[in-house]
Amino acid sequence: MEMSVPQVLELVPKRAAVRSVLKEKGNLRPPIVWAVGGGKGGVGKSFVVSNLGIFLGKQGHRTLLVDADFGGSNLHTFLGMSAPTRGLHDFFAKRSRNIGELVVPTEISGVSLLGGAQYYLEAANPKFAQKERLQQILTRADTDYVLLDLGAGTAFYILDLFLFAQEKIVVVSPEPTSVENVYQFLKSAFFRWVKREISSPQIKQWVDRAIDQRADNGIKTPVDLIQRISEMDPQLTEEVENLRRSFRVKLVVNQVRTSKDSRLLDAIVQACDKHLGLTVEPLGCVPFDDTVWKSIRSRKPFVQHYSHSASARRLEILLKKLVLPEKGKHGVA
Ligand SMILES: Nc1ncnc2c1ncn2[C@@H]1O[C@H](COP(=O)(O)OP(=O)(O)OP(=O)(O)O)[C@@H](O)[C@H]1O
Ligand SMILES: [Mg+2]
Repeated sequence: MEMSVPQVLELVPKRAAVRSVLKEKGNLRPPIVWAVGGGKGGVGKSFVVSNLGIFLGKQGHRTLLVDADFGGSNLHTFLGMSAPTRGLHDFFAKRSRNIGELVVPTEISGVSLLGGAQYYLEAANPKFAQKERLQQILTRADTDYVLLDLGAGTAFYILDLFLFAQEKIVVVSPEPTSVENVYQFLKSAFFRWVKREISSPQIKQWVDRAIDQRADNGIKTPVDLIQRISEMDPQLTEEVENLRRSFRVKLVVNQVRTSKDSRLLDAIVQACDKHLGLTVEPLGCVPFDDTVWKSIRSRKPFVQHYSHSASARRLEILLKKLVLPEKGKHGVA
């Protein structure tokens, strides 16, 4: 018999309890990092991040939501809050080195927010060193989960934060532009990873051209890249193949209105496998629901105040799929 979401979540140990044991042993477990990206703006990345955060918080998991959309921070709106006066803009402007003092509580117990950087224009494209430092700090954050809300586009810092996360989620809406952007986002993320992991100058050059979408050397997809490398070097082929096999992403189709829209979930999964050679796991669809904008306008976090709506129920199913594998994978059973 299918278990209800609350029943399923009861099976998941409270990481806070696990942590206190680890702390006593002086062996603090780093947080589990999830990132939500997808290339296109307005598809629902912040909507998904905020609601997943609320779900985790309600299950007793300390959760830090990070507004990593440095160009257009608005995660606070989904949590029913005004823009926090402190946030990553202070970190990027070197006004604060301690992220802890930039984090603000939300109305959901255990859930806190590290606000974005909308007052600090330079932060819209942070330097490599700033991004690296942010990652180091997040790895040491005293929380169970870190959820990264990424901005639109395929800027390198966005791709790097996406690759930094153990759980990578992409959100797409049922529009051709969004679907096109998600393919581009996934290709770019994979190419960026290859560039960082493989030292061959020739491969770096091919990958640079592929990311630029110049494709003047015929390499447009990971499949093309591996094919080209295989003509050159079997050892490198194996290394890049290993990267391809371990590149795993989960997909949400949001704002679904018709049954045709919901078929996109499997269609994208299959297209990624066939044309890009990338493994994408279908997490689920979330229906378009007018109560979403109502919740934003009334500043009432969606799954907190509209838990009986169709979309909230679908989101619960997504969380169930996300949280259950954590048990085995991160050894918190
Ligand atoms: N399932 C849904 N049903 C109805 N409206 C939705 C749904 N999901 C999101 N929206 C609406 O779409 C708008 C955009 O969502 P959101 O801000 O989460 O997108 P985003 O991908 O984070 O965009 P950006 O890249 O610009 O930050 C929201 O203002 C919200 O009102
Ligand atoms: Mg957003």
